[in-house]
Amino acid sequence: MKKIAVFASGSGSNFQVIAENFSVEFVFSDHRDAYVLERAEKLGVLSYAFELKEFDDKASYEEAIIDLLDLHQIDLVCLAGYMKIVGPKLLSAYEGRMINIHPAYLPEFPGAHGILDAWEAGVPESGVTIHWVDSGVDTGQIIKQVRVPRLPDDTIESFENRIHQAEYAVYPQVIKEILHD
Ligand code: GRF
Repeated sequence: MKKIAVFASGSGSNFQVIAENFSVEFVFSDHRDAYVLERAEKLGVLSYAFELKEFDDKASYEEAIIDLLDLHQIDLVCLAGYMKIVGPKLLSAYEGRMINIHPAYLPEFPGAHGILDAWEAGVPESGVTIHWVDSGVDTGQIIKQVRVPRLPDDTIESFENRIHQAEYAVYPQVIKEILHD
C-alpha cells in the first residue's frame, strides 16, 4: 500500500476530499493555527504543524519535514494549498514523489492568486492543473488539466466555487492513477 502525506497551509478543503477518498498517513501544515488541522482532527488523521520562523533557515525547516516523511515512509506527497515554495533540500529528497494542485490552467496564471488573476483578466475559461513539483513556481511537468468556464452571470465567488469543485473531482482521480502505477 503506497502511503500519502498532504501539505496544506490554510483551509484544507482539498485535504478533506483526499482524506475522504484515501488513507492519509498525515497532514503537515506550516501554520499552527490553520483550519486544516481542525479538519484533520475531525477526520482522525494524524497532523503535524511547525513554522519556518521556528527554525534557523529553510534548509533546517525542510530537514524536519523530510524526517517526518522518512519516518512514515511516504511514497506520495500531495501539496494542497501549501503556500511555500519547495526548497532544494526537500526537492532533492522527494522530487518525483511530490505533486501540486493549482487553481488555473497552467501555464496560464501561475502563482499564489491563480483564481483572482484569471478573473481579473476576464478570460472566458480557466481551469485546474495537477503537476509534479519542481524548483519553479507552478512549472513542473503537467499530469492532468481540466477546463472550467467562466459563465456570464458569475461573480468571483461563483467562479471560485466552480474551480474548487473541479479540484475536488480531479485531485482524487490523479492520486488514484499515481497510486495504481
Ligand atoms: C486550492 O485552490 C489549491 O488549488 C491552491 O490553494 C487552494 C487551497 O484550498 N493551491 P484548500 O486549502 O484546499 O481549501
